[in-house]
Amino acid sequence: MPMPSPLTLSFAILAAFLSTSRASTFQLSQDLSGNNFFQGFKFNESAIDFNNFGNVHFLSQSDAQAKNLSYVDSSGKVILRVDNTTNGVNDPTFGRDTIYLESNELMNIGSLLIFDADHIPFGCSVWPSLFTVCLVLFLHRVFSSFNLLPHITARSSVATGSEIDIIENVNLATDNRYSLHVGNDSCVQPTSVSSNQTATISTADGDISNCTVTPITGQNTVGCVSTETKTGSLGSAFASQGGGVYGMLWTTDGIAMWYFPRGSVPSDIGTSNSPDPTTWGKASAWYPASGCSPTAVFGPQIITLYIDICGAFAGESSVFSQTCGSVAPNCSSMVGDPANYNDAYWSINYLRVYTDGTSNASSTNGSGSGTGSGSGSGSGSGSSGSNSAIGLAGLKEFALVPTAIIFLGFLATL
Ligand SMILES: *[C@@H]1O[C@H](CO)[C@@H](O)[C@H](O)[C@H]1NC(C)=O
Ligand SMILES: *[C@@H]1O[C@H](CO)[C@@H](O)[C@H](O)[C@H]1NC(C)=O
Ligand SMILES: *[C@@H]1O[C@H](CO)[C@@H](O)[C@H](O)[C@H]1NC(C)=O
Ligand SMILES: *[C@@H]1O[C@H](CO)[C@@H](O)[C@H](O)[C@H]1NC(C)=O
Ligand SMILES: *[C@@H]1O[C@H](CO)[C@@H](O)[C@H](O)[C@H]1NC(C)=O
Ligand SMILES: *[C@@H]1O[C@H](CO)[C@@H](O)[C@H](O)[C@H]1NC(C)=O
Ligand SMILES: *[C@@H]1O[C@H](CO)[C@@H](O)[C@H](O)[C@H]1NC(C)=O
Ligand SMILES: *[C@@H]1O[C@H](CO)[C@@H](O)[C@H](O)[C@H]1NC(C)=O
Ligand SMILES: *[C@@H]1O[C@H](CO)[C@@H](O)[C@H](O)[C@H]1NC(C)=O
Repeated sequence: MPMPSPLTLSFAILAAFLSTSRASTFQLSQDLSGNNFFQGFKFNESAIDFNNFGNVHFLSQSDAQAKNLSYVDSSGKVILRVDNTTNGVNDPTFGRDTIYLESNELMNIGSLLIFDADHIPFGCSVWPSLFTVCLVLFLHRVFSSFNLLPHITARSSVATGSEIDIIENVNLATDNRYSLHVGNDSCVQPTSVSSNQTATISTADGDISNCTVTPITGQNTVGCVSTETKTGSLGSAFASQGGGVYGMLWTTDGIAMWYFPRGSVPSDIGTSNSPDPTTWGKASAWYPASGCSPTAVFGPQIITLYIDICGAFAGESSVFSQTCGSVAPNCSSMVGDPANYNDAYWSINYLRVYTDGTSNASSTNGSGSGTGSGSGSGSGSGSSGSNSAIGLAGLKEFALVPTAIIFLGFLATL
């Protein structure tokens, strides 16, 4: 490196001073891999998928281990999978066993998440997602808007529930979809940022892509989607190139997400204890603060990793037919045959969270947002009723909102 002249040096110092919020130094806060991976998560056990109406049972940690759906393989990779051994062909209420992990620690603003994987679940009817979500405040918003929690008003001006989708798509789709889903009605991705990111912004709404979801009416359940343009972001192509890395950076400037195929992962990812996103080039998806306030709209986020089957996105008939119409007439006809789930697994090298010190991680323990309440008895009676519920809500995708679904159920009984 050439020696800088005094003039260049003083400009450099000035520039550094002016851009302190961008040039944050990240410190490792959570490092989850191998045998310690599972210490970072709770298994949300639920016999019924209330969120998304999938044909699944989410297992407890002990059941998932006993059934070999979660383990560390001989090369130290964390495997999380859908049951591919049980035959449910002749059982109309069959729900296939799978996993739903939620982090013990909450991510706060000023954080960088890095996820390195070899394999992302895929296959007709399969719906994987890595997302972060603020549930508590969303509960507050939905219930308070119906005066069901009239006394919890102190936080009415804070974040109203929010979700950041880092990895998500369904069936045999080949390109990842980044998205935000929020309750606050002033959150958009301006289409003018198309030159600041590599993914393709949805232009369905003109000069904005609207991130606001109105779950009660089922409006805009897809959020503000940007679709990856680099090849191999999902599916068999992701696996055959040796996987890759996803990143999500949440600061006061906005929310950025990256995807790097295995062959072009920046050199400071996985090697440095202080990776520097400013050196990684254009993000795949960029949601600047000018369109959506990362402070007002996003509360502390639980990291969620799961695999669903069919349900409100993968199972929606027009979505299913896009990539799997030639394989089966509908999604639910896939579920009984275990051979359809040989590729329905995550193989994970690590998940790391770094913080820039502007806020600290906090724990979900004891906050009331922890493990689910499903009985786990496995009757599966909720698995086959999905279509009418989808029709009622007019939903395409409903990853955001557990509580809203409770409401839909509530409304349906009126
Ligand atoms: C756990 O899963 C159930 C079933 O989908 C869902 O209703 C609940 O909201 C989840 N719990 C959390 C904390 O996400
Ligand atoms: C778990 O599944 C993997 C992959 O199919 C297999 O290699 C391993 O032997 C299984 N372990 C047990 C204990 O069944
Ligand atoms: C929605 O976000 C805006 C900032 O964009 C903030 O001023 C407002 O208070 C938020 N509304 C709610 C209900 O949280
Ligand atoms: C997009 O990039 C241009 C050129 O680097 C920059 O001037 C502009 O501020 C960026 N816009 C946003 C919203 O990040
Ligand atoms: C985004 O959609 C929501 C829900 O449909 C609506 O309330 C809001 O006004 C929309 N925002 C913009 C900027 O169009
Ligand atoms: C799905 O397809 C199967 C096989 O053709 C059929 O038996 C079943 O009724 C269909 N289910 C729905 C919900 O349409
Ligand atoms: C389940 O899938 C794995 C690959 O993910 C495969 O090794 C295994 O043989 C499959 N199990 C059965 C019973 O086919
Ligand atoms: C984060 O935690 C450290 C150590 O407990 C503390 O010194 C610091 O003030 C905290 N920072 C914030 C922003 O809360
Ligand atoms: C949260 O609880 C889990 C066990 O459920 C534990 O392993 C973890 O250390 C706890 N985290 C904190 C910050 O207390």
